[in-house]
Amino acid sequence: MAEPVGIVLGSGLGPLADRVTVTRTVGFAEAGLPGSSVEGHAGRFLFGMLGGREVIVMQGRIHLYEGHDAKAVTAGVRWLHEQGVRHVTLTNAAGTLNDGHAPGGWMMLSDHLNLTGTSPLEGGPNFIDMSQVYDAEAMLEFHALANEQGMTLHEGVYAGLRGPQYETPAEIRMLRAMGADAVGMSTVLEAIQARALGMKVSAFSCLTNWAAGMSPEVLDHAEVLATGAAAAADIMGLLEAWCGL
Ligand code: 6GU
Repeated sequence: MAEPVGIVLGSGLGPLADRVTVTRTVGFAEAGLPGSSVEGHAGRFLFGMLGGREVIVMQGRIHLYEGHDAKAVTAGVRWLHEQGVRHVTLTNAAGTLNDGHAPGGWMMLSDHLNLTGTSPLEGGPNFIDMSQVYDAEAMLEFHALANEQGMTLHEGVYAGLRGPQYETPAEIRMLRAMGADAVGMSTVLEAIQARALGMKVSAFSCLTNWAAGMSPEVLDHAEVLATGAAAAADIMGLLEAWCGL
């Protein structure tokens, strides 16, 4: 039996877990993780099967904006590694900065900008290579499967910020100039931790809304959650197919 695939679910993407045949549940506290307090985050690991593959789903994650440090934010990734996970798939809800990537769609991360000002690796290990954080082979597989399923899967650069506030229009113009396609408050530290442990990483942003200044609308967390819930089914089909490879 192949080792389990780890899947980390982002804000509002909890329903993604509905397709997993759950055999065991482990709460964050039981796993030695700080609890997650944000709406839309349950705070537990689900062990089960998806597409014939063993998976461990992390439902709810820990954010810097809750007052936790980079070590706490990435404790779940280290725990997944201890459980035998060697490929982790990170999902998040993000704002879109790319005119060609409308809200409601999905973007696979090809790279990221860690703008959190911190790292889970402070204190070592130092100088971990970051030239290919997101697994290139898996990206090809996901594109092929998305194509088969008739699902539009964008690809781009994710900027990870601390939050908790959303960005100003000026900040979004800065991020666009830096090459970002999507912006959010998670994922980058987890990806760094996973790479430092030698794990393969794939990541997907559910583009829940236009970033500030990209549309006349104001940002609303409830709307972010609702769009995520609606788009969750798309990515679930993709992950299920990939787990079945
Ligand atoms: Cl526009 N910004 C950030 N930082 N996170 C988000 C978002 C925007 N939309 C969803 N999550």
